[in-house]
Amino acid sequence: MHDRTFTFMGGEVGAWDVTDMATIVGESLPSVPHVEFLRGVESASDSRSWVLRGVTSNQRYVTRAEQEELVAIQPTLGRAESTRAALIPIRKTDEWWRLSQDERRQIFEEQSRHIVTGMRYLPAIARQLHHCRDLGEPFDFLTWFEYEPEHQAAFDELVHALRATEEWTYVDREIDIRLTRGSARS
Ligand code: HEM
Repeated sequence: MHDRTFTFMGGEVGAWDVTDMATIVGESLPSVPHVEFLRGVESASDSRSWVLRGVTSNQRYVTRAEQEELVAIQPTLGRAESTRAALIPIRKTDEWWRLSQDERRQIFEEQSRHIVTGMRYLPAIARQLHHCRDLGEPFDFLTWFEYEPEHQAAFDELVHALRATEEWTYVDREIDIRLTRGSARS
């Protein structure tokens, strides 16, 4: 079976070097020099300071038209020249989770323009969304992005724009971890 579980481990070892780690809101995560990003379930070990797990899942909010647009332009992960990455674990408030699906969609897209805004940054930014709310994890989402060094400023602009939206008033824990690796993929 195709494994939809992904594990992120922060610690002394890992293919990605941490260049910056900022707590945007809520409780921080211990600072680490490296992050490993693997498909499947990995257990914690002494060299890991934290282990976060999530699963890729079906989409919740996109309309058919948006899905078609996304599929047409979104790149896949693992492009050799994408030597920069961001791991941004996010938790949303209880208030968010008490909303109905149609209320959440209203805030997410009609008010906050998450998809319209994000789409402007494709195909420069490759993304993968992992869900973890139902796994008993400390975050609801582990968001992962890969891009070339020359798109760093564009990515910063996108993150800044999203954090100013109505959707982000429902975010109560967010850590922004920036990463880099050599272009020879391990
Ligand atoms: C690169 C451009 C981006 C695009 C095209 C994009 C697009 C999307 C789409 C289509 C979804 C909805 C998936 C669904 O229907 O379930 C989504 C969800 C999400 N995105 Fe983005 N996104 C982008 C960037 C970002 C960034 C930079 C962040 C974090 C700083 C982020 C955080 C999230 C989160 C947390 C969710 C889950 C929201 C929820 O289910 O409540 N996205 N994104």
